[in-house]
Amino acid sequence: NHNICLVFWSFCLQGYYVHSNNPYKDYTNAFEQGLQKCRDGDLNSAVLLLEASILQDPQDSEAWQVLGTTQAENENEQAAIVCLQRCLVLHPNNLKSLMALAVSLTNTGQQPEACEALHRWIRYNPRYRHLLQDRSPLDGSPLPRRRGSSISPISTLGCSQLVEVLELYQEAMQQNAEGVDPDLQTGLGVLFNLSSEFDKAVDAFNAALSVRPEDYLLWNRLGATLANGDRSEEAVEAYTRALELQPGFIRSRYNLGISCINLGAHREAVRNFLTALHQQRKSRSHQVMSSNIWAALRIALSLMNQPELFQAASVGDLDLLMRAFNMDM
Ligand SMILES: *[C@@H]1O[C@H](CO)[C@@H](O)[C@H](O)[C@H]1NC(C)=O
Repeated sequence: NHNICLVFWSFCLQGYYVHSNNPYKDYTNAFEQGLQKCRDGDLNSAVLLLEASILQDPQDSEAWQVLGTTQAENENEQAAIVCLQRCLVLHPNNLKSLMALAVSLTNTGQQPEACEALHRWIRYNPRYRHLLQDRSPLDGSPLPRRRGSSISPISTLGCSQLVEVLELYQEAMQQNAEGVDPDLQTGLGVLFNLSSEFDKAVDAFNAALSVRPEDYLLWNRLGATLANGDRSEEAVEAYTRALELQPGFIRSRYNLGISCINLGAHREAVRNFLTALHQQRKSRSHQVMSSNIWAALRIALSLMNQPELFQAASVGDLDLLMRAFNMDM
């Protein structure tokens, strides 16, 4: 493990480790370049540049926020959570960080914490915080339990605030006369997903996308929700849109492959997994996902009844497999 904790003690205690020899550590505009690499889909370089920018100014809450969302995009949810929390220590009402944190916490199965972050997003949001005035006794206190709330989704998920927070988001949506707030809709989608109301989550993500049609992360989230709700064909459309916007988006390509398997399109599934593995090898991004993709690839090949290709996948022979599927890249 080459990650040596170099920065200040407090960061190590927060659990964030930076690479010991960061090639960009003296760059003067590391932050801007990091943003650019992010837009280009080169997440590994983006992470290094953003870490360099934080080495230069550890109090830069925006750099922590962007590093957090980039880590999440690069499938390092734990690192993402640490960065976003670090941002929130420096800037407690950073709404982007709160929303991103809620998504990362959901992805890592920390539902109560995700609910708490979404609650804070309302509480710190100048547009909606008045909704809490007759509810929450003290800022920062545990969320009140309202009498008469239905408790079924709560107990199944272990998220005692889910119904409470869902009601808040729906109230906020109703008072939004001036139009769709894409962040509010994203939060609503995450909450409906947590309560397993997938069709409502789909509607919320679609509403957010009507305002942010270029948001490939959101298209991927819509796809995953459609797939969860057994709507694989629509999921394929959503993932395809995400990949048109960001062809190097490994997670979405992987998800697309899984939906192809569910639809019985095994050959398409294999081609997507091979593309993902090839892109991953080129960019060295999304390493965390590698074993998932290989495993999914083996499943698709076994469904195609191709023992010799399955064998190639077992030994990780990507080049042979790509030739077998006429993919020269
Ligand atoms: C939906 O919730 C599950 C956990 O219950 C999580 O793994 C998944 O990432 C969530 N999906 C979205 C789109 O938020």
